[in-house]
Amino acid sequence: MKLKKSCIPTHIAIIMDGNGRWAKKRGLVRHLGHKAGVDAVKRTINSCMKLGIKFCTFFAFSTENWKRCKDEVDGIFDLVRTHLNDSIEKMIEHKIKINTIGNLQPFPQDLKEAIEQAKEKTKSFDRLTVTFALNYGGRDDLARAFSKLASQGKTEISPQDISCNLDTFMLPDPDLVVRTSGEMRLSNFMLFQMAYSELYFPKTYWPDFNEKHLIKAILSYQKRERRFGGIK
Ligand code: FPP
Repeated sequence: MKLKKSCIPTHIAIIMDGNGRWAKKRGLVRHLGHKAGVDAVKRTINSCMKLGIKFCTFFAFSTENWKRCKDEVDGIFDLVRTHLNDSIEKMIEHKIKINTIGNLQPFPQDLKEAIEQAKEKTKSFDRLTVTFALNYGGRDDLARAFSKLASQGKTEISPQDISCNLDTFMLPDPDLVVRTSGEMRLSNFMLFQMAYSELYFPKTYWPDFNEKHLIKAILSYQKRERRFGGIK
């Protein structure tokens, strides 16, 4: 089956799950699962460019992931730092905008600086916007949006007001959300933004995810009838 070029999702959001199980299956430490997960991130970015997807968002570290042991958390931060530093030139060459959502405040200073630099150097690009959700939680995003609105003295709040004050204010809502590894839950990802997203749950562990899986996800998306509460 071929992809319909006219119906490519504008924004794909990905919950990268199964790195730990991928590593365990191979008798490897969890960190090597996350490391292989970064290769899958790179592959997916390349495929998004090829397929003409405009926005791709990766759930890299949730507000709940601080519960993991310090070594694992530090290991994920190292991978983000290294990936940003190593791939910045390629991002610039391909006109990819780097963006983040989530509260960066508790991160180590050098990681915050690497993120800010990557964002600054790529801010004028719009071929593909790659967003990393870092210390991101849907509930935290909403709570921070409400705090901003309260501090502006707003008492009558519309969905549009909320949307404009979320971390995702510059992104369209995701059309397609993919969660790998066979788990079927949202785990506090973009709760408000996913109101009408199409969901897809492949069994593949994230480090094995490749262009074929992405195309299968989009083919499934293209078979859906999106009514947004209306009638076709
Ligand atoms: C979920 O799998 C994965 C994570 C919480 C971390 C994902 C992070 C990366 C792939 C590195 C991020 C780097 C960049 C550049 C975005 P899991 O550990 O929960 O897997 P399991 O459920 O099998 O244990």
